[in-house]
Amino acid sequence: MRFLPESGQISVAVIGFGYVGSCIAATLAERGLDVVGVDTDARLVDELARGHFRLEEPGLKEKVFAGLASGRLRVTTDIAATAEADVILVTVGTPVRDDGSLADEQLRGASRALAPHLRPGQLVVLKSTVPPGTTRDIVLPVLETGGLTGGTDFGLAFTPERLAEGAALRELRTFPIVAGGYDEESVGAATAFWQRALGVDVIPVDSLEAAEIVKLASNWWIDLNIALANELAKFSALYGVDVLDVIGAANTIQKGSGSINILLPSVGVGGSCLTKDPWMVWNTARRFGVEIRTASAGRAVNAEMPEYTARLMIDELVAQSKAPAHATVAVLGLAFKNNTGDLRATPVLDTVRALTRAGVSVRLHDPLVDAEEAEAMFGTGLTATVEDTVRGADCVAILALHREFADIDFAALPVARDCVLFDGRAYYPKERIAQLTAAGYVYRGVGRGPAVYSPPNEFITHWTKAS
Ligand SMILES: NC(=O)c1ccc[n+]([C@@H]2O[C@H](COP(=O)([O-])OP(=O)(O)OC[C@H]3O[C@@H](n4cnc5c(N)ncnc54)[C@H](O)[C@@H]3O)[C@@H](O)[C@H]2O)c1
Repeated sequence: MRFLPESGQISVAVIGFGYVGSCIAATLAERGLDVVGVDTDARLVDELARGHFRLEEPGLKEKVFAGLASGRLRVTTDIAATAEADVILVTVGTPVRDDGSLADEQLRGASRALAPHLRPGQLVVLKSTVPPGTTRDIVLPVLETGGLTGGTDFGLAFTPERLAEGAALRELRTFPIVAGGYDEESVGAATAFWQRALGVDVIPVDSLEAAEIVKLASNWWIDLNIALANELAKFSALYGVDVLDVIGAANTIQKGSGSINILLPSVGVGGSCLTKDPWMVWNTARRFGVEIRTASAGRAVNAEMPEYTARLMIDELVAQSKAPAHATVAVLGLAFKNNTGDLRATPVLDTVRALTRAGVSVRLHDPLVDAEEAEAMFGTGLTATVEDTVRGADCVAILALHREFADIDFAALPVARDCVLFDGRAYYPKERIAQLTAAGYVYRGVGRGPAVYSPPNEFITHWTKAS
């Protein structure tokens, strides 16, 4: 095989030792490959040398330090280290600009830095999420400025990363990998690499662009599906129907090759992927004069959830005769979802802002997030313990249910009378809700709790249809 050693050890360079890069690098090192992580962030490399790893993902820190201790993993700022590798994975960040176009600085920077170090026979595999055409039209020409030719001298493939934070290491070891290549040799080498390196199934597709679109399709679907769940929650709430009952029952029939699979509603969608990838779709299509409505609709629905969530809390406080201006909400969990310390685009920020605008006092607690980063983002420091956060609170809002919160004895917490227990992502079962209610809490969740509005009268129905 032209772009991969037929047998023996494969050595790998991972450019971008961030969330995805560190998960992959540590997993490959654990599987016995020689791995070098290359990152432009010198502070990150220093921190590692001092025994600190900045990301919170179950099992990741242990794996990174085990890899470093074994000598199979090293991390450097020196891009020249890529010259020793058989396979070079690119996992740098690919944010979008305000108009949804790719902010390609990291990708161009990494490609430019790599170009002069490429040597014949290497395989370059892009894993960052990008609009279709990016590998061919941006990465390839920049790599070729080093003097080598793609497809002839080096292989080039796109194999999107599909893991989700919170379950990243397990998903990395089990999810099939989609592979698109610049040519047949490249896709063949990428397929063989992932089969050997991770032992997972590989799904080859016809082109780089097909693989790029697969990744966007997944996140477009997830975001839109969550938007459906969120609107279903709003809809169910009109009637005091528990949206989780609706989803559980609706999901029991077969459709296509699987079953209906409505995901879960929540305080909102955050993180670095779902909040940007649908915009990549939207922006790319617009450049062709095609309007993709579902991508922007999903984004709009999900972006409104923090405000809706705050309103649910405020309505419930008012229903308990507690004026927002004199009420305290204790927020447990600031990260963008359960069991991660990632604060990027967390919907909790807009929820807290909306509560604060309404005059509510807010206290914040999250054991997984970086306290300094959270303080800079929220403009207020974190409270160290659950007890101190909820002391005298009129509402305890669980907006990310980390494992650390699983054993909280709510009955023993020093909260105010008729405290609202707001469930933004805990999805407590009915038995747990009954226990909470018995302990004196007023339970309310997104799409869960008493009816939000009075039933419509004829006038409103008529007026809405006519308008
Ligand atoms: N985070 C996720 O859950 C996830 C899941 C699937 C796919 N992705 C995609 O994977 C990619 C990476 O995401 P992430 O969350 O790991 O981002 P990240 O911001 O955590 O990591 C990117 C890293 O690249 C480094 N970097 C930037 N420019 C560089 C350069 N020129 N050379 C070397 N290093 C450089 C940064 O310092 C940073 O450490 C993105 O395209 C993202 O959309 C992310």
